[in-house]
Amino acid sequence: MRHWNLTRDAHGIAWMRLDTAGASMNKLSAEVLAEFSAQLDEFDLKPPAGMIIQSAKDSGFIAGADVEEFKALDNPQQAQEIIARGWHLFNRLAAVPYPTLSLIRGICLGGGLEISLACRYRIAVDEPATRLGLPEVLLGIVPGWGGMMRLPRLIGPQAALDMMLTGKTLDARRAKRAGLVDLAVPARLMERSAAELIRSGRRPHRPSGLPALMNHPLMRPIIAAMAKKQVAKKARPEHYPAPYAIIDLWQKADGDPLKMPQLMQTIIGSPTTKNLLRVFFLQERLKSLGKESSFKAKHLHVIGAGTMGGDIAAWGALRGLTVTLQDQDISRIAPAMGRAGALFKKRLRDPLLHRAAMDRLIPDTTGEGIQHADVVIEAIFENLQAKHALLQQIEPRLKPGAILATNTSSLRIEDLRTALADPSRLVGIHFFNPVAMMPLVEVIAAVGTQPQAAADAAAFVRSIDKLPLPVKSAPGFLVNAVLAPYMLGAMRKLDEGIAPSVIDAAMRRFGMPMGPIELADTVGLDIALAAGRQLSDVASPPTCLMERVEQGHLGKKSGRGFYEWSKGAIANRSDVAAIPEGLAESLIAPLVDRTEALVQAGVIADADLADAGVIFSTGFAPFRGGPLNWNKTRSIRG
Ligand code: NAI
Repeated sequence: MRHWNLTRDAHGIAWMRLDTAGASMNKLSAEVLAEFSAQLDEFDLKPPAGMIIQSAKDSGFIAGADVEEFKALDNPQQAQEIIARGWHLFNRLAAVPYPTLSLIRGICLGGGLEISLACRYRIAVDEPATRLGLPEVLLGIVPGWGGMMRLPRLIGPQAALDMMLTGKTLDARRAKRAGLVDLAVPARLMERSAAELIRSGRRPHRPSGLPALMNHPLMRPIIAAMAKKQVAKKARPEHYPAPYAIIDLWQKADGDPLKMPQLMQTIIGSPTTKNLLRVFFLQERLKSLGKESSFKAKHLHVIGAGTMGGDIAAWGALRGLTVTLQDQDISRIAPAMGRAGALFKKRLRDPLLHRAAMDRLIPDTTGEGIQHADVVIEAIFENLQAKHALLQQIEPRLKPGAILATNTSSLRIEDLRTALADPSRLVGIHFFNPVAMMPLVEVIAAVGTQPQAAADAAAFVRSIDKLPLPVKSAPGFLVNAVLAPYMLGAMRKLDEGIAPSVIDAAMRRFGMPMGPIELADTVGLDIALAAGRQLSDVASPPTCLMERVEQGHLGKKSGRGFYEWSKGAIANRSDVAAIPEGLAESLIAPLVDRTEALVQAGVIADADLADAGVIFSTGFAPFRGGPLNWNKTRSIRG
């Protein structure tokens, strides 16, 4: 076998270790499944005492099906074959007479969880990397290899639908509590526990009480109606058909996609599925842009412990770097340390890991860290003179080969670097606010920037689990440059008399996570005005914006802007009865046009990267596949 490695232990247990050839992460490609199937044929002739499925890779258990093969989804025949392949194989696995066990360490997603669900037992290794889930819905598809049938039977339909409809994953302990795995064990005990459990003769886990009852055919319509109501709060069926299909398939076909071919065709042929797969591949492309250099950082030094610098430092420490955080005095660093503590607590539930992350983040009032750092990012006030003075101080203290970066939003790299003896080493590493939430980071190179410095910066960004987007130096780079005309355009509609809530509702219905007026209030109207002046080609800003800034109504931070704000939320959001036809299209047009113009101008390498940048920074309706893709196809209206 090319992908599986089979050994037998003294008790006659067959250990099937998956090591997908030519891939860093295990995937269930057609070939991997064919080999597995052939092995089951052999086991039919000579059954082992038991079979344990495990990963031979350190990178995790199984990431899922091979999404590359989904490119064939356009062809209904092939799509049907992909579904049938896993559905039949895993049914066969579930029916073998000998005990089977899936030993899960690291990520176990999609098809990886479905093969595990078809085993009699499951053990998860209790460590942070272990995550179990069926995230197919995020790609616009359904868990068609038995997940929709077996997960509800195992943990009850409500918990199962919650996982399948949101794509959320469980760690080992939660999986144990939910009944998804039989045991959660530390790594050192995993193999022994697996060997014991598989020989135990224990009855496979089944839910009891209410969760079991809910699976009864008479209860299913009620549960399904409740689930649809929940889904409807977040996603409309014409935008996101897959979650609705999951509910229908579970309710009416016990999770068997082959019983509802019509429904499956609709899902597979929908523009949403095509676009969500597109977004997946765009994300893979951004990740690969971080692989063009082998740069590795251990120590990050951040200067300026304000909103951005503090959060960049915290993120770096969370991701395992040693981080020194510099500001003028300790009182300015203290709030950032407090925020970092809250982030670590939320993301690292284990107190020991939390403590270790805190230890990695070191306040530094003298800039001691500069000489040791592999990456230095300045995030001080947006002031050219101050940044010049700082860059001049930093440069002689840098390690050779260290990245020197600025997080500036609006100053030109070309102007900033004049302070340096070697101007070619300065790059922009532009994070978005809030740092922990935003996956994209723009990596900015100007004419004359060392290509190696830009490639190293992209590798650094990827190493801290963000998506690097290479952009050429230009006002507002990509993201702010496309947001400015969009937000100003929305405000001009306000000047024309359309209510803020109507504008925001139109764009939320279009699929944006937040409307442009609420976004302006959140960013701060003073900042929106300054950015608008810098980035818009229209002479005078919208009247509604100027008036509010003059009156000191700056949005969320001052309690009042276009909306009234209380405790961080809009206090006077009103219900919107009707949205004028075509409003969303006219609101999004300036963003689309500017994106197009920046591609034309070469600020961003191509239309796909531009779409990726806008999606992963603004949350631009992923099911539309990005602004340029949407504009080209206009396949989903409203
Ligand atoms: P901020 O005003 O919250 O923090 C700036 C910090 O820099 C302050 O704590 C200040 O004490 C410190 N500082 C100033 N001069 C210093 C020096 N010479 N040495 C050490 N520390 C010094 O600023 P914010 O908002 O964090 O912005 C920082 C940079 O990030 C700016 O260049 C801005 O354009 C950029 N940026 C800001 C975003 C935002 O949403 N606030 C988003 C993306 C980039």
